[in-house]
Amino acid sequence: MRIGIIGTGMIGATLTRRLSAAGHTVQIANTRGPAALAGLAAESGATATGLDEVGRDVDVLVTAIPFGRMPDLSPLLARLPSVVPVADTSNYYPHRDGRIPEVDSGEPEGMWVQRRLGRPVIRAWNSLVQTTLADKGRPKGAVDRLALPVAGTDPAAKQAVLGLVDDTGFDPVDAGTVEDTWRMQMGAPAYCTELTVEQLRRALTLADHDSVLMRRDAVLTIIDTWEHGDTTFDDLVALNRAAAGAHRLLGS
Ligand SMILES: NC(=O)c1ccc[n+]([C@@H]2O[C@H](COP(=O)([O-])OP(=O)(O)OC[C@H]3O[C@@H](n4cnc5c(N)ncnc54)[C@H](OP(=O)(O)O)[C@@H]3O)[C@@H](O)[C@H]2O)c1
Repeated sequence: MRIGIIGTGMIGATLTRRLSAAGHTVQIANTRGPAALAGLAAESGATATGLDEVGRDVDVLVTAIPFGRMPDLSPLLARLPSVVPVADTSNYYPHRDGRIPEVDSGEPEGMWVQRRLGRPVIRAWNSLVQTTLADKGRPKGAVDRLALPVAGTDPAAKQAVLGLVDDTGFDPVDAGTVEDTWRMQMGAPAYCTELTVEQLRRALTLADHDSVLMRRDAVLTIIDTWEHGDTTFDDLVALNRAAAGAHRLLGS
Protein backbone atom coordinates (compact mmCIF):
# COMPACT_ATOMS: atom_id res chain seq x y z
CA MET A 1 0.00 0.00 0.00
CA ARG A 2 1.01 3.64 -0.45
CA ILE A 3 0.96 5.29 2.95
CA GLY A 4 1.46 8.94 3.89
CA ILE A 5 2.56 9.76 7.45
CA ILE A 6 2.27 13.28 8.85
CA GLY A 7 4.44 13.74 11.93
CA THR A 8 7.80 12.04 12.32
CA GLY A 9 8.40 12.19 16.06
CA MET A 10 8.38 9.17 18.35
CA ILE A 11 5.26 7.54 16.89
CA GLY A 12 5.47 8.73 13.28
CA ALA A 13 9.12 7.66 12.90
CA THR A 14 8.43 4.28 14.50
CA LEU A 15 5.44 3.70 12.21
CA THR A 16 7.60 4.74 9.24
CA ARG A 17 10.14 2.05 10.12
CA ARG A 18 7.59 -0.68 10.80
CA LEU A 19 5.33 -0.03 7.81
CA SER A 20 8.31 0.29 5.47
CA ALA A 21 9.75 -2.96 6.84
CA ALA A 22 6.39 -4.63 6.15
CA GLY A 23 6.77 -3.74 2.46
CA HIS A 24 4.62 -0.61 2.21
CA THR A 25 5.61 2.46 0.21
CA VAL A 26 5.76 5.27 2.75
CA GLN A 27 5.88 9.06 2.31
CA ILE A 28 6.71 11.19 5.37
CA ALA A 29 6.31 14.86 6.23
CA ASN A 30 6.75 17.10 9.25
CA THR A 31 6.69 20.85 9.88
CA ARG A 32 10.39 21.29 9.07
CA GLY A 33 10.39 20.00 5.51
CA PRO A 34 12.03 17.10 3.64
CA ALA A 35 15.64 18.10 4.38
CA ALA A 36 15.05 17.42 8.08
CA LEU A 37 13.88 13.90 7.21
CA ALA A 38 16.87 12.74 5.18
CA GLY A 39 18.14 10.43 7.93
CA LEU A 40 14.82 8.69 8.58
CA ALA A 41 14.21 8.38 4.83
CA ALA A 42 17.63 6.83 4.21
CA GLU A 43 17.28 4.42 7.11
CA SER A 44 13.73 3.26 6.34
CA GLY A 45 13.45 3.61 2.57
CA ALA A 46 10.56 6.07 2.96
CA THR A 47 10.30 9.17 0.78
CA ALA A 48 10.60 12.53 2.52
CA THR A 49 8.17 15.09 1.20
CA GLY A 50 6.48 18.36 2.10
CA LEU A 51 3.15 18.75 3.89
CA ASP A 52 1.59 19.95 0.63
CA GLU A 53 2.60 16.74 -1.13
CA VAL A 54 2.15 14.02 1.47
CA GLY A 55 -1.55 13.40 0.89
CA ARG A 56 -1.24 12.90 -2.86
CA ASP A 57 -1.40 9.39 -4.30
CA VAL A 58 -1.77 7.51 -1.02
CA ASP A 59 -4.10 4.67 -0.07
CA VAL A 60 -4.04 5.57 3.65
CA LEU A 61 -2.92 8.71 5.46
CA VAL A 62 -1.63 8.40 9.04
CA THR A 63 -1.52 11.40 11.38
CA ALA A 64 1.04 11.31 14.22
CA ILE A 65 1.05 14.86 15.57
CA PRO A 66 -0.03 16.40 18.89
CA PHE A 67 -3.81 16.12 19.48
CA GLY A 68 -4.19 19.88 19.90
CA ARG A 69 -2.54 20.49 16.52
CA MET A 70 -4.90 18.16 14.61
CA PRO A 71 -7.19 21.03 13.46
CA ASP A 72 -4.15 22.51 11.62
CA LEU A 73 -4.47 19.60 9.17
CA SER A 74 -8.00 20.50 8.14
CA PRO A 75 -7.07 22.40 4.91
CA LEU A 76 -4.56 19.72 3.92
CA LEU A 77 -7.04 16.88 4.51
CA ALA A 78 -9.77 18.75 2.62
CA ARG A 79 -7.71 18.08 -0.53
CA LEU A 80 -7.53 14.35 0.17
CA PRO A 81 -10.08 12.19 -1.71
CA SER A 82 -12.87 11.21 0.70
CA VAL A 83 -12.24 7.48 0.10
CA VAL A 84 -8.71 7.69 1.54
CA PRO A 85 -8.80 6.51 5.18
CA VAL A 86 -7.21 8.82 7.75
CA ALA A 87 -5.71 6.85 10.65
CA ASP A 88 -5.18 9.07 13.67
CA THR A 89 -2.75 8.21 16.48
CA SER A 90 -3.16 11.32 18.63
CA ASN A 91 -4.03 11.47 22.34
CA TYR A 92 -5.24 14.37 24.44
CA TYR A 93 -2.52 15.51 26.85
CA PRO A 94 -3.68 18.80 28.46
CA HIS A 95 -0.16 19.78 29.61
CA ARG A 96 0.88 19.73 25.93
CA ASP A 97 -2.38 20.49 24.10
CA GLY A 98 -3.95 23.01 26.52
CA ARG A 99 -7.33 22.34 28.08
CA ILE A 100 -10.06 21.38 25.60
CA PRO A 101 -13.40 21.77 27.42
CA GLU A 102 -15.37 19.41 25.15
CA VAL A 103 -12.90 16.56 25.69
CA ASP A 104 -12.52 17.39 29.40
CA SER A 105 -16.26 16.98 29.77
CA GLY A 106 -16.42 13.66 27.96
CA GLU A 107 -16.55 14.06 24.17
CA PRO A 108 -14.68 11.01 22.82
CA GLU A 109 -11.30 12.06 21.43
CA GLY A 110 -12.02 10.51 18.03
CA MET A 111 -15.21 12.51 17.71
CA TRP A 112 -13.46 15.76 18.62
CA VAL A 113 -10.76 15.15 15.99
CA GLN A 114 -13.32 14.16 13.38
CA ARG A 115 -15.45 17.25 14.07
CA ARG A 116 -12.44 19.58 13.92
CA LEU A 117 -11.17 18.03 10.68
CA GLY A 118 -14.58 17.87 9.05
CA ARG A 119 -13.96 14.33 7.81
CA PRO A 120 -14.11 10.79 9.24
CA VAL A 121 -11.10 9.32 11.05
CA ILE A 122 -10.10 5.86 12.17
CA ARG A 123 -8.31 5.73 15.53
CA ALA A 124 -5.33 3.40 15.65
CA TRP A 125 -1.90 3.03 17.32
CA ASN A 126 -2.89 5.64 19.93
CA SER A 127 -3.30 3.17 22.77
CA LEU A 128 0.30 2.06 23.11
CA VAL A 129 3.56 3.64 24.20
CA GLN A 130 6.33 4.16 21.66
CA THR A 131 8.47 1.30 23.00
CA THR A 132 5.57 -1.14 22.59
CA LEU A 133 5.36 -0.24 18.91
CA ALA A 134 9.14 -0.28 18.42
CA ASP A 135 9.98 -3.46 20.33
CA LYS A 136 6.93 -5.64 20.91
CA GLY A 137 5.47 -6.27 17.47
CA ARG A 138 5.46 -10.01 16.70
CA PRO A 139 4.69 -12.17 13.65
CA LYS A 140 1.11 -13.34 13.19
CA GLY A 141 0.38 -16.36 15.41
CA ALA A 142 3.20 -15.73 17.93
CA VAL A 143 2.07 -16.70 21.46
CA ASP A 144 3.24 -13.40 22.94
CA ARG A 145 1.63 -11.22 20.26
CA LEU A 146 -0.12 -8.17 21.75
CA ALA A 147 -3.35 -6.67 20.42
CA LEU A 148 -4.36 -3.13 19.50
CA PRO A 149 -7.83 -1.60 19.17
CA VAL A 150 -8.98 0.20 16.02
CA ALA A 151 -12.17 2.26 16.00
CA GLY A 152 -14.01 4.25 13.38
CA THR A 153 -17.29 4.32 11.57
CA ASP A 154 -16.52 3.61 7.91
CA PRO A 155 -16.20 -0.19 7.49
CA ALA A 156 -13.90 -0.12 4.44
CA ALA A 157 -11.58 2.46 5.94
CA LYS A 158 -11.45 0.54 9.22
CA GLN A 159 -10.70 -2.72 7.41
CA ALA A 160 -7.72 -1.11 5.67
CA VAL A 161 -6.34 0.19 8.98
CA LEU A 162 -6.96 -3.12 10.79
CA GLY A 163 -4.74 -4.71 8.13
CA LEU A 164 -1.99 -2.16 8.66
CA VAL A 165 -2.05 -2.68 12.43
CA ASP A 166 -1.55 -6.39 11.74
CA ASP A 167 1.39 -5.51 9.48
CA THR A 168 3.04 -3.61 12.35
CA GLY A 169 3.03 -6.78 14.47
CA PHE A 170 -0.15 -6.61 16.55
CA ASP A 171 -3.47 -8.46 16.52
CA PRO A 172 -6.00 -5.84 15.38
CA VAL A 173 -9.28 -5.69 17.32
CA ASP A 174 -12.33 -3.84 16.00
CA ALA A 175 -13.24 -1.48 18.87
CA GLY A 176 -16.39 -0.05 17.32
CA THR A 177 -17.32 3.28 15.77
CA VAL A 178 -15.92 6.75 16.33
CA GLU A 179 -18.48 7.20 19.15
CA ASP A 180 -16.73 4.30 20.93
CA THR A 181 -13.25 5.83 20.86
CA TRP A 182 -13.50 6.73 24.58
CA ARG A 183 -13.02 2.98 25.18
CA MET A 184 -9.42 3.25 23.90
CA GLN A 185 -8.29 6.62 25.23
CA MET A 186 -6.36 7.51 28.36
CA GLY A 187 -8.13 6.22 31.48
CA ALA A 188 -9.67 3.25 29.67
CA PRO A 189 -8.54 -0.30 30.51
CA ALA A 190 -7.50 -0.76 26.85
CA TYR A 191 -5.15 2.25 26.90
CA CYS A 192 -1.42 1.51 27.07
CA THR A 193 -1.85 -1.69 29.07
CA GLU A 194 -0.19 -4.16 26.63
CA LEU A 195 -2.90 -6.81 26.36
CA THR A 196 -3.38 -9.98 24.34
CA VAL A 197 -6.37 -10.22 22.06
CA GLU A 198 -8.65 -11.91 24.65
CA GLN A 199 -7.57 -9.46 27.36
CA LEU A 200 -8.14 -6.51 25.06
CA ARG A 201 -11.65 -7.63 24.11
CA ARG A 202 -12.46 -7.94 27.82
CA ALA A 203 -10.90 -4.53 28.54
CA LEU A 204 -13.06 -2.86 25.87
CA THR A 205 -16.17 -4.42 27.42
CA LEU A 206 -15.13 -3.49 30.98
CA ALA A 207 -14.79 0.21 30.10
CA ASP A 208 -17.25 2.56 31.77
CA HIS A 209 -17.44 6.12 30.41
CA ASP A 210 -17.52 8.05 33.70
CA SER A 211 -14.77 5.90 35.22
CA VAL A 212 -12.59 6.47 32.14
CA LEU A 213 -12.79 10.23 32.64
CA MET A 214 -12.01 9.97 36.38
CA ARG A 215 -9.08 7.62 35.78
CA ARG A 216 -7.74 9.82 32.98
CA ASP A 217 -7.64 12.80 35.34
CA ALA A 218 -6.06 10.68 38.09
CA VAL A 219 -3.39 9.27 35.74
CA LEU A 220 -2.56 12.77 34.48
CA THR A 221 -2.28 14.06 38.06
CA ILE A 222 0.20 11.30 38.89
CA ILE A 223 2.23 11.90 35.71
CA ASP A 224 2.43 15.60 36.62
CA THR A 225 4.23 14.64 39.85
CA TRP A 226 6.92 12.62 38.04
CA GLU A 227 10.32 14.17 37.59
CA HIS A 228 10.95 14.83 33.89
CA GLY A 229 13.40 12.31 32.49
CA ASP A 230 13.22 10.09 35.55
CA THR A 231 10.54 7.68 34.33
CA THR A 232 10.21 5.16 31.53
CA PHE A 233 7.52 3.95 29.14
CA ASP A 234 7.33 0.82 31.32
CA ASP A 235 6.31 3.09 34.22
CA LEU A 236 3.47 4.43 32.04
CA VAL A 237 2.26 0.93 31.19
CA ALA A 238 2.41 -0.05 34.89
CA LEU A 239 0.49 3.10 35.89
CA ASN A 240 -2.22 2.50 33.28
CA ARG A 241 -2.53 -1.14 34.31
CA ALA A 242 -2.82 -0.19 37.98
CA ALA A 243 -5.44 2.49 37.20
CA ALA A 244 -7.51 -0.08 35.29
CA GLY A 245 -7.15 -2.74 38.02
CA ALA A 246 -4.41 -5.07 36.83
CA HIS A 247 -5.98 -8.19 38.32
CA ARG A 248 -9.34 -7.89 36.55
CA LEU A 249 -7.57 -6.77 33.39
CA LEU A 250 -4.95 -9.50 33.13
CA GLY A 251 -6.91 -12.22 34.85
CA SER A 252 -3.96 -13.10 37.07
N1 LIG B 1 5.03 8.97 22.12
C1 LIG B 1 4.19 7.96 22.39
O1 LIG B 1 4.54 6.99 23.09
C2 LIG B 1 2.80 7.98 21.79
C3 LIG B 1 2.07 6.80 21.78
C4 LIG B 1 0.80 6.76 21.18
C5 LIG B 1 0.27 7.92 20.65
N2 LIG B 1 0.98 9.09 20.73
C6 LIG B 1 0.37 10.28 20.15
O2 LIG B 1 0.89 10.42 18.83
C7 LIG B 1 1.03 11.82 18.53
C8 LIG B 1 2.51 12.08 18.20
O3 LIG B 1 3.25 11.79 19.37
P1 LIG B 1 4.85 11.79 19.36
O4 LIG B 1 5.26 11.32 20.70
O5 LIG B 1 5.35 11.09 18.14
O6 LIG B 1 5.13 13.34 19.24
P2 LIG B 1 6.49 14.09 18.88
O7 LIG B 1 7.65 13.17 19.08
O8 LIG B 1 6.45 15.40 19.60
O9 LIG B 1 6.35 14.38 17.29
C9 LIG B 1 5.33 15.20 16.80
C10 LIG B 1 5.46 15.30 15.30
O10 LIG B 1 4.34 16.07 14.83
C11 LIG B 1 4.81 17.06 13.91
N3 LIG B 1 3.88 18.19 13.95
C12 LIG B 1 3.56 18.96 15.02
N4 LIG B 1 2.62 19.88 14.67
C13 LIG B 1 2.36 19.66 13.36
C14 LIG B 1 1.49 20.27 12.43
N5 LIG B 1 0.70 21.29 12.78
N6 LIG B 1 1.47 19.80 11.16
C15 LIG B 1 2.27 18.77 10.79
N7 LIG B 1 3.12 18.12 11.64
C16 LIG B 1 3.16 18.58 12.91
C17 LIG B 1 6.19 17.41 14.41
O11 LIG B 1 6.90 18.01 13.35
P3 LIG B 1 8.46 18.44 13.51
O12 LIG B 1 9.21 17.15 13.53
O13 LIG B 1 8.72 19.25 12.29
O14 LIG B 1 8.53 19.20 14.80
C18 LIG B 1 6.72 16.04 14.83
O15 LIG B 1 7.27 15.37 13.72
C19 LIG B 1 0.57 12.60 19.77
O16 LIG B 1 -0.75 13.00 19.61
C20 LIG B 1 0.70 11.56 20.89
O17 LIG B 1 -0.19 11.82 21.94
C21 LIG B 1 2.25 9.14 21.24
